[in-house]
Amino acid sequence: MLDRRITSLLSVLLCVSLASVSAFVEELDDSFMETRGADDIWLIKFYAPWCTFCKQLDPVWHQIGSELKSLGSPVNVGKSDATASTGLAKEFRVRGYPAILMLKKDVKYNYSGPRTKDGIMDFAHRVGGPLVRSLRSLELFQHAMTRHDVMFVYVGATSQLKGNYTSAAEELIVHTYFFSATRDVLPKAISLPSLPAVVVLKDGTYFTYDEEHDGDLKMWINRERFPNYFKIDSYTLYAMGESGKLVMLALVEEKNLCDESLRYKGLVEKVAAEHRETYSRNFYFGFMEGSDYINGLVMGEVIVPSFIVVNLSNDGYFLPPGAVETEHHLLDFLNGVLDGSIQCQGGNGVVQRIGRFVYDTKVTLTPVFSQAPLLGCFLVGFPLAIAAVFCYLCCKARPKIGDDDDEDGVALLAPSLQRRKESANKKTD
Ligand SMILES: *[C@@H]1O[C@H](CO)[C@@H](O)[C@H](O)[C@H]1NC(C)=O
Ligand SMILES: *[C@@H]1O[C@H](CO)[C@@H](O)[C@H](O)[C@H]1NC(C)=O
Repeated sequence: MLDRRITSLLSVLLCVSLASVSAFVEELDDSFMETRGADDIWLIKFYAPWCTFCKQLDPVWHQIGSELKSLGSPVNVGKSDATASTGLAKEFRVRGYPAILMLKKDVKYNYSGPRTKDGIMDFAHRVGGPLVRSLRSLELFQHAMTRHDVMFVYVGATSQLKGNYTSAAEELIVHTYFFSATRDVLPKAISLPSLPAVVVLKDGTYFTYDEEHDGDLKMWINRERFPNYFKIDSYTLYAMGESGKLVMLALVEEKNLCDESLRYKGLVEKVAAEHRETYSRNFYFGFMEGSDYINGLVMGEVIVPSFIVVNLSNDGYFLPPGAVETEHHLLDFLNGVLDGSIQCQGGNGVVQRIGRFVYDTKVTLTPVFSQAPLLGCFLVGFPLAIAAVFCYLCCKARPKIGDDDDEDGVALLAPSLQRRKESANKKTD
């Protein structure tokens, strides 16, 4: 009896606390764009009622809402049912669920990282804060250095370069932080021959942007926004496509690395560090735990541990022609990729894309078939049956080619529509 009372009291408390948490997340509808304040900053999740990923994200979303509120963040948190508020979803060009976006003034920023609280909070802080953060003291500068593996800093007074830097920040703030500083707060290790300058601090050193050598500032930032060597997950690897560089990976086990894996990792790290002058223009280096993403790319099971170079601009990849035992072998592999003597495999041609779709479907369905064969048959058979009926109807509706003067095969359905309309008109006459 007492137990039951406690349970019901607890559940009431739980409901109350959930309700108060929910208050930190506003439900937005089509009127949102008219009613919001012009300077408001919003973090919005678009969902569909049937989407399970969206439901899984709900508790995280409430946490984010309450945490941002308690931190006094200027970021408002909202959610919107994209199937009900279709106008708003269209305005934000929502294509999949859940879609996570930020609206700051009139600029919309798309979040494409992992759907974790930390990932989304970092995004909200970065995009919600100032475009360019000013570091006013050496202490602040050093604190920022401890927190960021890659740091872009503008040094100097107002200039055209600063204008270009700010406009690059406006677009690329989704990916990285932008800082500014005066010369007197720079750590001693950084010496700049002339100002203004843009520098990137990474890999324990720094590089200065040179317009003549590096080209457009925005593209340079996009190219250089990753560390030279680091642990790469599938989201990051995908994002690295925009850098235009190739990625040299050591594929290792998800956990409990064997000696061989440790050796592979070490080899890549060594080459990355000792030959950065030669290769950093064309390559990023790293290691990846688990091979699911790469299996999808190569459409097969890659061996773990192994080496692979991926070209994310075209989904192509390169495999070493022989065993890689030494640093020398690895350098030969990199050179072979660069001089074209090692063939690029894969790619994003039509055949490759169809192949990848078939592979992904197979990988998704195989476990279903082994656990529940009937369900598997239904999942495969049902769409096939619909497709077959659809084809049948299309073929039936198609007019005989001799019936019209239109030689263009593509336009075949149009005349039949025209005819149907005509006969409909006749009926109403
Ligand atoms: C700023 O960008 C413009 C065009 O993108 C370019 O022509 C100009 O040289 C850049 N200025 C500096 C100082 O980088
Ligand atoms: C990577 O792909 C891009 C886009 O197709 C291509 O221009 C580039 O040459 C490729 N790089 C290598 C090394 O194959």
